[in-house]
Amino acid sequence: MTAADSPKATNIVWHQASVDRNARSQQRGHRSAILWFTGLSGAGKSTLANAVNTALFERGLSAYVLDGDNVRHGLCKDLGFSDSDREENIRRIGEVAKLFLDAGVIVLTAFVSPFRADRDKARGLVIAGDFIEIHCAADLSVCEERDTKGLYAKARAGEIKEFTGISSPYEAPEHPELSINTGDVSLESCVDQVIHYLVDQKIIAPQS
Ligand code: ADX
Repeated sequence: MTAADSPKATNIVWHQASVDRNARSQQRGHRSAILWFTGLSGAGKSTLANAVNTALFERGLSAYVLDGDNVRHGLCKDLGFSDSDREENIRRIGEVAKLFLDAGVIVLTAFVSPFRADRDKARGLVIAGDFIEIHCAADLSVCEERDTKGLYAKARAGEIKEFTGISSPYEAPEHPELSINTGDVSLESCVDQVIHYLVDQKIIAPQS
């Protein structure tokens, strides 16, 4: 059971804003979208999201990264890594991402988001085309070899419980909009793949 299943407030009425998403898109010259990066810890989600964000910023576009480790320092600091806490983590991020979408921003979310059902719920909050699932598909062996934060070693030693890929499952997307081999391909080429997709989908204009 999550907060979404048991809303507490009653007597609340939606307030319609006078500036809507379309108006913002027109003013900014690009559409907004949710770029949902998913993959194992160490797969390169944050690195890729950050590099895409930089590329968008350099084009003068509005973009923002919501990063798992960072969000867990604030909005989600009451959550751990049990299945139900991860579900609640992803529910909150889905809702926050939807607000960014309305604000006219290209929002890049970098969360392990290991469960298909949770990602699908986030997708279901918005209309088709607004949610772009990007699987950072580096093999577990590559992520473990990198072990940038030293967490795999701790997980193998039993010092971290419920660690994704070791003692907690990762359900890879079945039909992601993009699957990028972040284990093998250069960062520059990964960024290009995402930017090309955004141009293809007419979310951003090609660079003149
Ligand atoms: S999620 O599963 O709820 O989507 P999230 O992306 O917010 O996870 O946080 C994952 C990050 O927390 C990892 O990159 C890693 O640095 C850290 N972490 C700490 N403990 C765990 C764990 N048990 N499983 C996965 N990641 C963990």
